Amino acid sequence: MKKIMVAVTGASGTIYARRFFQHFPYDDWEAHAVVSESARIVASHEGGLNLPPHVREWDEKDLTAPSASGSNKFEAMVVIPCSTTTLGKLAHGIADNLITRSGEVFLKERRKLILVPRETPLSLIQIKNMELLTLAGAHVIPATPSFYGNPKTIEDVVDTVIARVYDHAGIQAEVSKRWREEEKKVRSEE
Ligand SMILES: Cc1cc2nc3c(=O)[nH]c(=O)nc-3n(C[C@H](O)[C@H](O)[C@H](O)COP(=O)(O)O)c2cc1C
Repeated sequence: MKKIMVAVTGASGTIYARRFFQHFPYDDWEAHAVVSESARIVASHEGGLNLPPHVREWDEKDLTAPSASGSNKFEAMVVIPCSTTTLGKLAHGIADNLITRSGEVFLKERRKLILVPRETPLSLIQIKNMELLTLAGAHVIPATPSFYGNPKTIEDVVDTVIARVYDHAGIQAEVSKRWREEEKKVRSEE
């Protein structure tokens, strides 16, 4: 079974983490998770975050977790949402908690590391940190929704981002309409 590490950090956008876990195909993946202290504070202002029972949750301070060692094979790590603090630490090799240590390990092992920052506007420092991480192999996928699928609810809007994150992580689950998909389907049925 493929393994994934999902980190939730203290950026606004707890709903992105909620939707990520709601759609996740637990039958195909072993899901591990870590929620930072700041993420818990943000979640308390944004509808809360309860991890599903199938998720193996680790403490932010627990550096003995499997994802903290390169010898333990994980397919991908997703930081959703990703605070600019965690982004900055990852860009500069500061591995002071389970999230930043795991991210460091994924980069050195050349494994998929997907970061979903929400911040706007961005300072040059944050842009440079994203540049550094991109050069180091991370996928920076800002929480920037699309609207061409005519989303009707906030969840629909959020799911347009989750779909991109799933695609990059190699997670198979249809969470959002793809561009011109309906049209293609109708044509092939004609
Ligand atoms: C309600 C609330 C909203 C926040 N929103 C953001 C945000 O959108 N982006 C961000 O980078 N930090 C945001 N922060 C600040 C982070 O939580 C703070 O920088 C923290 O140190 C991040 O720590 P972490 O990366 O360990 O989770 C927010 C804080 C609070 C209390």
